[in-house]
Amino acid sequence: MSSESAAPEERAVAHDESFGEAIEAIRTRRSGHNFDPDAKLDDETLEAVIRDATLAPSSYNLQPWEFVAVQDADRLDEVVELAYGQEHIREAGTAILVVGHTDAKTADRVFNEWEEAGRMDEASAEQTKAQSVEMYEDERMGRDYAVRNASLAAQNLLLSAHARGLKATPMIGFDQEGISEFLELPDDEIPVMLISIGPSAGEEPDRLPRRSVDEVLHRESR
Ligand SMILES: Cc1cc2nc3c(=O)[nH]c(=O)nc-3n(C[C@H](O)[C@H](O)[C@H](O)COP(=O)(O)O)c2cc1C
Repeated sequence: MSSESAAPEERAVAHDESFGEAIEAIRTRRSGHNFDPDAKLDDETLEAVIRDATLAPSSYNLQPWEFVAVQDADRLDEVVELAYGQEHIREAGTAILVVGHTDAKTADRVFNEWEEAGRMDEASAEQTKAQSVEMYEDERMGRDYAVRNASLAAQNLLLSAHARGLKATPMIGFDQEGISEFLELPDDEIPVMLISIGPSAGEEPDRLPRRSVDEVLHRESR
């Protein structure tokens, strides 16, 4: 049966099978502290995981994120200190700060791209751009916008690292102001997720239990 004619449930099963490796990556990804201190991420792999991160979905494709990679040993020492002594960052050899924009500063360029691709006419591109710029001027909305979009990019990065045989651990245990200052973030960008990433030195302890689907899935309303 072709995918077009299959019932929705059947399509879901077929999808699971055809992307079996992606599902496997989701199921086996782990955070951890067991990094090989003698090995480090090479430049090509660093760029590859960042490319995968940039394929995450974002509001209007605004891609409101930046990635700051720290690999210099002295600077990593500073990052460890700003992350309250999390030594695994040093052992990983690379720390990546996923940064979110708190305003729609890519809007000019991106709405032009919508228009050039014929996906919006000039008037709706202008209108949507004005709406998104205005919406994110509100401080709370701006922070939500940064965190929502950059978190999806961070998850892509974690899965890409795992699929490439690396270990990557997300962290929010760090001094937000301190790291913003140390990595020279402009005022309209906030640190969303710090990730230690590098070759693994072996297994992690067993995963802690997850809340069950029965417990977390609510049909139609909470
Ligand atoms: C928002 C967030 C913050 C986290 N902060 C830290 C952290 O500061 N240090 C750390 O070692 N792990 C941190 N973790 C990793 C979690 O402890 C880990 O994801 C959780 O225990 C589940 O384990 P798993 O990722 O191996 O499935 C964080 C994870 C998330 C999503």
